[in-house]
Amino acid sequence: MGRKSNKGKEKRLARKEEQMRIAVAKEIVDKANKLSDPLEPFPVFRKFNKNGIEAELYIKRVGEICDVTKEWVFNLTKQNMKAKYEDCSWGWNDTKKYEELTDEDAWYLIAQSKDGKPIGFSHFRFDLDEGVEVLYCYELQIEPAVMRRGLGKFMMQILELVAFTNHMRKVVLTVLKHNKYNYFFKALNYQLDESSPVDDDEETYPYAILSKINKKLVNTNPLPSSSSINNHCDHCCSGHH
Ligand SMILES: CC(C)(COP(=O)(O)OP(=O)(O)OC[C@H]1O[C@@H](n2cnc3c(N)ncnc32)[C@H](O)[C@@H]1OP(=O)(O)O)[C@@H](O)C(=O)NCCC(=O)NCCS
Repeated sequence: MGRKSNKGKEKRLARKEEQMRIAVAKEIVDKANKLSDPLEPFPVFRKFNKNGIEAELYIKRVGEICDVTKEWVFNLTKQNMKAKYEDCSWGWNDTKKYEELTDEDAWYLIAQSKDGKPIGFSHFRFDLDEGVEVLYCYELQIEPAVMRRGLGKFMMQILELVAFTNHMRKVVLTVLKHNKYNYFFKALNYQLDESSPVDDDEETYPYAILSKINKKLVNTNPLPSSSSINNHCDHCCSGHH
């Protein structure tokens, strides 16, 4: 009897602690979502001048992005990703992808050339992911004409800077396992996230979840116990399934 009720008390306490931790995490996410310009403290990162690319970068919420740029975001994503989605169980759906890209929580990091033409973007969100405050990179897309010149890496560095300065615990993204560009994330030291699903006899997953941890926060408030992590993902660097 006594043992039972002690266990019950421990469980209640643990649940309460978890709820409090999530409430704090939510406050951190809400605060980041209220920023007017996350790039403001880092003027050096507003320009990329390397390997024949001269670009300017800015960060805006989706509501501040003009329709022409939104169309370009959608078309570049479709051009780079449609075939890869169709090669796996996800399939491609114009409406679903457009809705994801224009969701009111979406933030955009955009690189444009000197004549104002966009050449690369990241769609990201400050969000709670399985109770943890993260910057989720939904999409990173570079125009094929300017790939492999360091712009993608520079943009991921900006996301990490913005994430970690605003106290996110991780930068997280979902990749399709058969995407040949995954080597890019390996080159940038992204690791398999603990929430990445593991194939078994019953199910194989076409995607993996990668992350980079904010080392400054590792020993502060612990990440949720593995029992509270379930193996699903609802957002993807190039994906929704
Ligand atoms: C993946 C992507 C964002 C990378 O951006 P990028 O500007 O082309 O890449 P970078 O020049 O910054 O590459 C940095 C490093 O990543 C690695 N890398 C990048 N592309 C690679 C490729 N195609 N094959 C092997 N390694 C690659 C290299 O180590 C590279 O460094 P190096 O050129 O000095 O060897 C870009 O190629 C892209 O938009 N691809 C199509 C869309 C996509 O698959 N996005 C990712 C999933 S959302």
